Amino acid sequence: MKRFVVALPSVLGRNASKSKLLKNEKCVRTLQVGRTLSDSFTDHSTTPFPEFDTFATHDELYQFSLNSPDFFWGTLARSRINWYRDFGRVKDCDLTRGHIRWFLDGELNVSVNCVDRHAEKNPDSIALIWEKDEPGTQEYVTYRELLQLVCRMSNVLESHGVKRGDRVAIYLPQSPVAVAAMLACARIGAIHNVVFAGFSSEALAGRIVDAQAETVITADQGVRGGKIIELKQVVDDALKSCTCVKRVFVYQRTGNDVPMGKLDINLDKELASQPDTHTPAVMDSEDYLFMLYTSGSTGKPKGIAHTQAGYLLYAGLTMKHVFDYKPNELFGCVADIGWITGHTYVVYGPLFNGAATLLFESTPVYPNPGRYWETIERLKLNHLYLAPTALRMLLKSGDSWVTKYDRSSLRKLGCVGEPLNREAWEWFYEVIGEERCDICDTWWQTETGGIAITPRPSAPGAEIRPAMPMRPFFGIDPVLMDPQMGTELTGGDVKGALCIKRPWPGMARSIYGDHQRFIDTYYKTYHGVYFTGDGAYRTKDGYYQITGRMDDVLNVSGHRLGTAEIEDVIDDLEETAESAVVGFPHDIKGWGIYAFVVLKDDVKTSEEEMKTQLKAMVKKRISAFAQPDIIMFTPGLPKTRSGKIMRRILRKIAANQPDELGDVSTLFDPSIVDALVEKHKQITGKS
Ligand code: PRX
Repeated sequence: MKRFVVALPSVLGRNASKSKLLKNEKCVRTLQVGRTLSDSFTDHSTTPFPEFDTFATHDELYQFSLNSPDFFWGTLARSRINWYRDFGRVKDCDLTRGHIRWFLDGELNVSVNCVDRHAEKNPDSIALIWEKDEPGTQEYVTYRELLQLVCRMSNVLESHGVKRGDRVAIYLPQSPVAVAAMLACARIGAIHNVVFAGFSSEALAGRIVDAQAETVITADQGVRGGKIIELKQVVDDALKSCTCVKRVFVYQRTGNDVPMGKLDINLDKELASQPDTHTPAVMDSEDYLFMLYTSGSTGKPKGIAHTQAGYLLYAGLTMKHVFDYKPNELFGCVADIGWITGHTYVVYGPLFNGAATLLFESTPVYPNPGRYWETIERLKLNHLYLAPTALRMLLKSGDSWVTKYDRSSLRKLGCVGEPLNREAWEWFYEVIGEERCDICDTWWQTETGGIAITPRPSAPGAEIRPAMPMRPFFGIDPVLMDPQMGTELTGGDVKGALCIKRPWPGMARSIYGDHQRFIDTYYKTYHGVYFTGDGAYRTKDGYYQITGRMDDVLNVSGHRLGTAEIEDVIDDLEETAESAVVGFPHDIKGWGIYAFVVLKDDVKTSEEEMKTQLKAMVKKRISAFAQPDIIMFTPGLPKTRSGKIMRRILRKIAANQPDELGDVSTLFDPSIVDALVEKHKQITGKS
């Protein structure tokens, strides 16, 4: 395999000094002596669950995972995680109060489990494949090098006073440094708060302030799709409203000059000056590992908090078994680390399993729509895990972009984030995977930590149906609830609110700083079961298909957005009296954003000007992906007599379904509906 000199040659160096390496190995071993109960990272490739080989079938093992969760998860936690101290009780959970604890009193370090143990056994195996923006400029990082980088990063953070429990905001492009920053936080016991490097300065500021982060790690600039992204500039703007920040580490991704202020620290220089060994912190199973903001029904994003052992185990097991990962395979999840998919299936899941994981810095269409397939040919990836929106976009570009590249290395394909329509599924299966690869339409959420419903693992040779996640993973007990009655719907061929009845180790523990909101959002709607916010259909044979969100959350190009977040911005335009945002089906993005805006009286500004202003405001306050596709200025909104906006009507209008509006007689002013339908026709040209 062609090897490239990794970024930061001054930091990592191809010829890491032998003495330093030995010192590091010694340090790890010393820590483990007398503290580590299991050093049992084993290759489970031939028998997926050697711990449970008495079970003859997949279904038996699945049932066992539900009926004896303590035994099931306890056994796996002991055999797959390296512990400093064994745990006592396997779990202590009471979902009615959102009280969730797994592997109580166990002690471990997540970065040791993801890096050190592999660096010790297979130091030269590849940990990261950095697929940089320009095709053909990839760089490889071995486990030894990753360990050294993580250690240096840990030393940098600690030498600047970052402590256990501190929140560290990470606003970085997809890069080895970003992975090392996450793992260094895990190593020293700090809580990382990765913010997608496409979020605006205001969105970043909100997340820094909510987390009360004193430390930010960013880069001079990012590079994506051939364009420069001014990351440091965004951080500088964000910091104008963040008094909590004490230091900003700046990694040189491009090396171009960017203004450095008094809080700014050159990360590259710091890394180069620190030793490449570090003694990891001993963490409790239930200490926070990270928080990650995601949208809900209100305007304020929620800092979903995950803890150490349960998340790690669930990430590792799902990555290995859903994708049937085998040692030495190259795992290609193209998600950004700024989203949960990047956390679980770019970083923690693959590294826990000692895999080589892809860091994809570019876009699916740079420099052309053949990028993914050319990358697969060049890197010989065995797995590809992506978002349906990318597939739909590439499908439109035609098969020739795919077939001109060799995809014979591919073994398993997966997608996540939104429903995968049948046409895209078939293209994925027939054209991309040449009818050779399983397609795993995986359903899960920031809150579930890892994949919860997925066609695999399942009984050998079990059928995979197009466009549905189908089967629950081990330990996951999905139920459908009747939204009107609040009771469980049994049997097949039913639709309802998708809930999960029993706890599993990877589930979120809280909303950072607001446990009551956590309980109210997830455990109150259906008493004592976890409510996902999604609707689902269960087929006659018990398979699950996701029907979409049941709350005011949209999935736009796989990004989760609260309609209230966008309304909050629109309402801040001086001319706006009120607004309502809904989604409408969109060919490529899954959902498009439709904003109905009521203006104050006597507005002089032109509609075109206000549209431009509104889009710019949304881009500035949230992100470019949150900009409305359609803005309608309207004299009013359909409201009930008590003043509640009837969004159902707006959704139907936005979806070009004026014939399905239903009963509008309960509206305060039913005539507004005709006006809206008429204006919609004018704007979109659709009748
Ligand atoms: O609505 C579901 C949709 O994405 C939501 C979770 O978004 P987020 O927390 O950002 O995590 C996305 C990546 C895990 C879910 O509530 N979703 C996710 N996967 C699927 C899906 N909808 C349909 N099919 C899926 N496979």
